[in-house]
Amino acid sequence: MIPEHTVQKILETAQIEDVVGDFVNLKRAGRNYKGLCPFHDEKTPSFSVSPGLNIYKCFGCQKGGNSVQFIMDHEKMSFPEALRYLADKYNIEIEEEELSAERKAELQEIDSLYVLNENVSKFYTEQLFHTNLGKSVGLSYFRDRGFQQKILDRFHIGYAAPGGKVLVDELTDKGFNIDYAKKVGLVNTYDKDFFKDRVIFPIQNISGKTIAFAGRTLKKDKKIPKYINSPESDIYEKRKVLYGLYQAKGAIRKENSCILVEGYTDVMSLHQVGIENVVASSGTALTEEQVRLIKRFADEVLVLYDGDAAGVSAAVRGLRIILSQGLKVQVVMLPEGEDPDSFAQKKGKQATLDFLEDQKKDFILWQLEHLLAETANDPMGKARAIKSIVRTLAYIDDALTRSTYIQHCAQELHIQETLLVDELNKALYELQAERQRIQKSDARKEQQWKKQEPSPIHSPSAQQLEEKKRIPPKVDIREKEVIRVLLQHGAKMMEDEEGNPLTVAEYVFSELENLSENMSHPTFQKIIDLYLQSLMDGLVPELKQFTQHSDRDLQTVAIDILTDPFEYSENWEGKLNSPLRTQKKPEENFATDSFLVVQHFKQKQIERLIEQNREKLQTFIEADDEKGVADCMAVHHRLVEVRKEINEIINRVIL
Ligand code: GTP
Ligand code: MN
Repeated sequence: MIPEHTVQKILETAQIEDVVGDFVNLKRAGRNYKGLCPFHDEKTPSFSVSPGLNIYKCFGCQKGGNSVQFIMDHEKMSFPEALRYLADKYNIEIEEEELSAERKAELQEIDSLYVLNENVSKFYTEQLFHTNLGKSVGLSYFRDRGFQQKILDRFHIGYAAPGGKVLVDELTDKGFNIDYAKKVGLVNTYDKDFFKDRVIFPIQNISGKTIAFAGRTLKKDKKIPKYINSPESDIYEKRKVLYGLYQAKGAIRKENSCILVEGYTDVMSLHQVGIENVVASSGTALTEEQVRLIKRFADEVLVLYDGDAAGVSAAVRGLRIILSQGLKVQVVMLPEGEDPDSFAQKKGKQATLDFLEDQKKDFILWQLEHLLAETANDPMGKARAIKSIVRTLAYIDDALTRSTYIQHCAQELHIQETLLVDELNKALYELQAERQRIQKSDARKEQQWKKQEPSPIHSPSAQQLEEKKRIPPKVDIREKEVIRVLLQHGAKMMEDEEGNPLTVAEYVFSELENLSENMSHPTFQKIIDLYLQSLMDGLVPELKQFTQHSDRDLQTVAIDILTDPFEYSENWEGKLNSPLRTQKKPEENFATDSFLVVQHFKQKQIERLIEQNREKLQTFIEADDEKGVADCMAVHHRLVEVRKEINEIINRVIL
């Protein structure tokens, strides 16, 4: 268990913009930050981060919370894991004993796999730097290739000695469970090391955890694969990983541009010369998931191809994926015989940057140029080339951008624009049909998968839980508004109708008796109770008591209310036909705002009384109780009168 005061310390220290900023490209927007939501796919940013409240909120998918919540959701961590992650990030010590045997057993398997990988990574680096073989074979190899200590450290480069028992023995010695090592592929089914006689490149995820390894042979023998990689595992899904992203994400965000290369050593060399916004897809064809990772940090991708890259058409697929995600794509071909590693090491930072700046070409124009060069004397080939380019254009979402390219291509190809437009429409249609097919088959797969699931056990409580989930408690906007006013303005001073100074909180609670009981939403009740408790201790509660509350519902509702600038006036106007014009300047008009909110809440209570009275009336009518009916009618008239009075008060307020 992490003690409560440590939890609080972590929550207070963790700055939300800083925590989120490790994963999302945030841009300033007034007092807040905006960015593309990492929880759902979107092209325009609706994800907002408020440093003031220390919370995030997506207006698209409605996810929101504090730093811990963000890490839990984003990194799929449990609550304690997320706390540990943040404690680690901010160097906050968690007073827990050394890993006890009990604790070890508690750790979930995933955690164990991370721990294992971390230890193995350390072991490999020790092998590289502190064993004779490591130094003479591995380290000298990297030194010969011009890699400095700093860069070997940054990428945790290591060495796996030959033999086949080196790692297995180490793990056995240290008491690690070999089954875990098998699960991540470090040990094979014959209990032998997977990586032997290779230099090691650990592969880290976006938050710096080692999830897999790549090993490069130092032998020239063409029959041995140059690189081998860990197999996929519970913690390693190839298509979701970019090599170097952890080290590069800060620079990518700063440059708003990401350089994409092919190899591990390319990433390292560019880093070494000081170009740090670089990642590699490391051996796999570029995937949509990888592009989405990039998109969190930048709007532009610069793809570097080796001078001897195998064919343009092979590259086109990956580039289309980048385009389809709405990113700007540029391409640079390196001089023949060079790859980014050799080029950067030879030229250094400035010359490399100059070269990239000078040579980078828009992907479409690049494809155009290359395909035309390849098919110069081949009319059939040219037709194919045109189709291929038009197909690429279909991946661009923005019609305006497409039409600019169409114009340009028509000029270069000396063909009529309308012809290209026809082709484009065909391509757009085909692409759409393809996507639908994929969607359908995905849906079918999911259906089948669902069928295989065992049917849930229907104990009454489980069923009730399900019901609860399906029907969220009704939100009455007038209840919500009372809470908003309390949270936003509770501590501010205003005057009551007689001109006496009092806080907004005091005003609200004195005007609205039994406020908690009169709220129908259970979470609203909780908030009011908490608020009152604090008032009774003599303090208007701080916002973070709600936005950082451990009750997830309460936290979410509070964040919702504090980050919802629109619903208020819109719904109010629509539903109640009584616009609250104060909303545009809540800071200036908080007193009137509070007054109106209270009046509206009173109105709501009157309506409820009218409704209750009507039910009563009905029973009296059915029972032929004349006296009862008369009483009810009198009450009804009185209530309607009060409702009218309040209405007049509301309408009299001039802003
Ligand atoms: P160095 O030769 O060490 O500079 O590596 P490189 O990155 O320049 O190698 P290369 O250009 O040949 O390959 C580019 C990338 O493709 C590598 O970084 C690997 O990710 C991947 N790759 C290359 N060879 C193999 C292989 O034999 N097997 C696998 N799985 N991947 C490979
Ligand atoms: Mn290379």
